[in-house]
Amino acid sequence: MREHDVIIVGGGLAGSSAALEIKRRNPNLDVAVVAKTHPIRSHSVAAQGGIAASLKNVDPEDSWEAHAFDTVKGSDYLADQDAVEILTKEAPGVIIDLEHLGVLFSRLENGRIAQRAFGGHSHKRTCYAADKTGHAMLHELVNNLRRYGVKIYQEWYVMQLILEEGEAKGIVMYQIIDRKIEIIRSKAVMFATGGYGRVFNTTSNDFASTGDGLGMCAVAGIPLEDMEFVQFHPTGLYPVGVLISEAVRGEGAHLRNSEGERFMERYAPNQMELAPRDITSRAITLEIRAGRGIHQDGSAGGPFVYLDLRHMGKEMIMSRVPFCWEEAHRLVGVDAVYEPMPVRPTAHYSMGGIPVNTDGRVRLSGDNLVEGFFAAGESACVSVHGANRLGSNSLLECVVYGKLTGKSIASYVEGRKFPEFDENNYLINAKNRLKGLLEQKGAIRINELREKFQNCMTEHCGVFRVEETMKRGLERLQELKQEYLQVYLDDKDSCWNTELIEALELGNLMIVGEMILTSALNRKESRGAHSREDFPARDDANYLSHTLAYYSPAGIDIHYMPVVVNRFKPKERKY
Ligand code: FUM
Repeated sequence: MREHDVIIVGGGLAGSSAALEIKRRNPNLDVAVVAKTHPIRSHSVAAQGGIAASLKNVDPEDSWEAHAFDTVKGSDYLADQDAVEILTKEAPGVIIDLEHLGVLFSRLENGRIAQRAFGGHSHKRTCYAADKTGHAMLHELVNNLRRYGVKIYQEWYVMQLILEEGEAKGIVMYQIIDRKIEIIRSKAVMFATGGYGRVFNTTSNDFASTGDGLGMCAVAGIPLEDMEFVQFHPTGLYPVGVLISEAVRGEGAHLRNSEGERFMERYAPNQMELAPRDITSRAITLEIRAGRGIHQDGSAGGPFVYLDLRHMGKEMIMSRVPFCWEEAHRLVGVDAVYEPMPVRPTAHYSMGGIPVNTDGRVRLSGDNLVEGFFAAGESACVSVHGANRLGSNSLLECVVYGKLTGKSIASYVEGRKFPEFDENNYLINAKNRLKGLLEQKGAIRINELREKFQNCMTEHCGVFRVEETMKRGLERLQELKQEYLQVYLDDKDSCWNTELIEALELGNLMIVGEMILTSALNRKESRGAHSREDFPARDDANYLSHTLAYYSPAGIDIHYMPVVVNRFKPKERKY
């Protein structure tokens, strides 16, 4: 059996920030990062628009308190305010630290880090590197992992969290190139496994965003928090769904319907295109439903609206949002200097996840923690985003809470012994699981079943939700779970068997989908991104609480946990 003092699963921004912090605090600790892709291919690399911090480079009136208020209001008052206070106070410091590590941010004329407007933020506070901010940050962090001697297992797939007697003891993983199974034991395990956009048929997320960490936790008996809160980004490029950054609207682009109207005036007259994402995504969906969407030939009644950049001019488009221009040009043949881009909402981000406290320690319930287990980033729920995340707060969460979790792991493992367990059972189970999938004699191919599942989730639990539809979705999901037992893998090879990985990923996606649907069905109110047509109002009396969903193959148990409200009393949310 291999061993490392600390195992971090996930090589994106949260995992890399944590690993780096641990090594900076104690260079003698043996830290390993395990990732199913090369770390610089983690989905953080695709983050575009920026990272929020009240640096005051553009707007001297900004403050951490204003940032905290915007975040809590944006969250529809479901964020834990102690966690938000830490996030927003730490933000300026982490930006300076990133800059010292080598991250190349865009600059103002005076040489300071540039900051732009973003939805739901009352000040220009989003720092950026053109529209490739995640790329700029992740590359430097991963370079620094190597510099600090972090061991990287790249292209290993983690199959199981080893959790015994309330303590995380290690992981089971296999190497993708040759299917070699290995067990690692460690004094602390951290999950930074990212989101689950692939639950839906249209998403801005990459193919690897399959909720693996969430699935493994659920199976191990750890609850998942606030899974009903799925963020649909307003401007997914139609029809592919890839992200057209909010930075485009931050720099001045307009949303228009088939009548040429800037329709946001009806939904958020003060903030217009820079309203928070839940409101903007609902507005676009309602315009399309009302027949004011657009078809490919430009006629009314179609499935998208326009994002119009033309008035911004070529120079601004090419210097501030060149990647978004390139995406539209390359993927749908639109030259945004001269033509509007077709957009509609696309599944983008998970507000919920593995419940953690502000030290990154995973919760077993409201009051109990799991020993030796930590999480941060999109896979975790601390909860700074509550029911709706503001754009540019997710990169911030990854680096602030990645770093704080690293700090807490460094002191947690001090003087701690390696855990004891019998590795043989884990090895045998993992081997049998892979063998079972490879030898299964069904008739259904993985891609067929995945498509049915993604369509089921999109149809039954999208931007708007209603009880009857969600119930039908859960029934359909039960049928699809049976079909999973009938899948047939064509590829039996042990070398780089992507079909086998996709089968394991689909298992996780289905668990996550069931958690989302069940949590959404049980929350009988509308709050942030969870919009119930049958319960259109927010209901603080009954639902100002976090959902904790416990999975078992027989069904899901829903519990609730109080929200930390200490500074900003819940108010009606208007923009
Ligand atoms: O629109 C964007 O650039 C995305 C940013 C974010 O999700 O924070």
